[in-house]
Amino acid sequence: MAEPGVDEGQRERWNRRHAEAPDTGAPAEVLLRNAHLLPARGAALDLACGRGANALWLAGHTALTVEAWDFSPVAIARLEQTAAVRGLRVRAAVRDVVAQPPAPESCDVLVVTHFLERTLMPALCAAVRPGGLVLYQTFTREAVSMRGPATPEWRLAPNELLGWFAGFVVRAYREEGSLGDTARGLRDVACLVAQKMD
Ligand SMILES: C[S@@+](CC[C@H](N)C(=O)[O-])C[C@H]1O[C@@H](n2cnc3c(N)ncnc32)[C@H](O)[C@@H]1O
Repeated sequence: MAEPGVDEGQRERWNRRHAEAPDTGAPAEVLLRNAHLLPARGAALDLACGRGANALWLAGHTALTVEAWDFSPVAIARLEQTAAVRGLRVRAAVRDVVAQPPAPESCDVLVVTHFLERTLMPALCAAVRPGGLVLYQTFTREAVSMRGPATPEWRLAPNELLGWFAGFVVRAYREEGSLGDTARGLRDVACLVAQKMD
């Protein structure tokens, strides 16, 4: 039965992409480069996780309890299969995060990568517990390659992430645009690690 509010056409397109993808993919740079900022314990959520590279990395490298949500059942099935093969514990769920966002103060670590739904931003801010972190990485309009969505609306404006998490303390931020030697650096994305204060 169709879930209320879910765009079934969009979900089908994602199902196909996840079915055709050769592997899990790599964890996001915002996670790998800032892993030393993660708390020793607590609840982590990989939101719109896809095939779960971030969640699997968290489960394999930290003592956090890890949840991962995506509205694509294909993505979640692949995540669960990879977790089983690697002997990792991830509580994965098929969930439309727009219809069912995370509850307020439910996450010590909230990871969102390559997903941008602006109407969800207030719920994402609220979902982080006091002292907790958001790690966010997604595509910017100012880019040096064709990676990411073609639609400008699905890409960040300059400094946009800083605005959405303005009530948080910024622990790391990177947005290189097309500045300097574009063959080097972390391009096409903005990365934010920000902490909600007590
Ligand atoms: C570009 S992929 C990013 C996946 C993963 N976070 C990563 O960085 O590899 C976007 C993901 O968002 C998921 N998605 C899109 N709309 C969603 C929604 N309303 N609720 C939950 N997941 C959604 C898609 O299924 C897809 O897996």
